[in-house]
Amino acid sequence: TSSPSGTPTETTVTDKYAYAFDIDGVLIRGGRPIPEAIEAMKMLNGENEYGIKVPYIFVTNGGGKTEAERCIQLSQQLEMEVSPGQFICGHTPMGEMADNYGTVLVVGGEGEKCRIVAEGYGFKDVVTPGDIIKDNQDTTPFRSLTEEEYKRSRVRNFAEVEIEAIFVFADSRDWASDQQIILDLLMSKNGRLGTRSETFDEGPPVFFSHNDVVWSASHDLTRIGMGALRVSLEAMYKAVTGKELQTTAFGKPQIGTFEFATRLLKRWRKDTHGINKAPETVYFVGDTPESDIRGTNEFDKHTDDANWYSILVKTGVYQAGTKPNFTPKATVDNVLEAVRHGMEREY
Ligand code: G3P
Ligand code: MG
Repeated sequence: TSSPSGTPTETTVTDKYAYAFDIDGVLIRGGRPIPEAIEAMKMLNGENEYGIKVPYIFVTNGGGKTEAERCIQLSQQLEMEVSPGQFICGHTPMGEMADNYGTVLVVGGEGEKCRIVAEGYGFKDVVTPGDIIKDNQDTTPFRSLTEEEYKRSRVRNFAEVEIEAIFVFADSRDWASDQQIILDLLMSKNGRLGTRSETFDEGPPVFFSHNDVVWSASHDLTRIGMGALRVSLEAMYKAVTGKELQTTAFGKPQIGTFEFATRLLKRWRKDTHGINKAPETVYFVGDTPESDIRGTNEFDKHTDDANWYSILVKTGVYQAGTKPNFTPKATVDNVLEAVRHGMEREY
């Protein structure tokens, strides 16, 4: 319904469709919003010719902070409120593994942030590379801890500790040290530092929160990401031990991440909009064919719950003029065009 001036007087929420957004390269680049992002969000929040609101969630492979902290940041960047109830990042589904292991090594991110995230998920005993270097400075010959790092790292005798799993939560800030420590654990007997397995099959499993080899930051060209660390680690392990290393990645394009997103969207639609059924279509807007488009297309085939419709934008990893390795249902210039495309399809 519209007032005489043409501005909508009331907006209804559609239960027919929803959106899911990738963040880096779609909404944000290098900490700043992509120009069309704010307008796109306004459109979904009811500023559109149809006078409707459309529910949406965010599904990023990024991480390194608690979901709550990421949402505060995203709210400021996008000039609207983003709730943890509509947000998942690469490591969110890793929380479901908290009860599976005792002591775990958590790698990546700034300062103690990833330890805080892991403890928040319920991991019982979280170790960082800093704790290991503090216990034995000789671990990393070309890297000593700064005073501040030394202070915040925990005192531990690692000769007495068995590390049961390795979780890479966010991008490594120091590839050489982190890889040395991961390699030490992989080659150890049962995750005990200072030991060497004769067979190299006694080390802990390694989990990455995603597998993006490159991503879209503030530089004009893509930057290497966590998937590159994974490739590097696997190659190095092969060079040193002669064996293949099997690691596991979470995040997009994994089906498990899209299942997690489905549950999140269901809860979000119910709790905030009172919608008690599945949407017919979920429009997924992403910039990385290998993660966003591949994941959406494969999940669309996998699920009967809703149609998952992939939209590729040209503001991030994917650049115009090339053929993406995974074919989206639609390719558009930017996120605002992506929102328009979905809405026009619906009416
Ligand atoms: O490190 C984050 C990056 O690899 C991807 O983030 O939001 O594009 O899934 P996003
Ligand atoms: Mg992206």
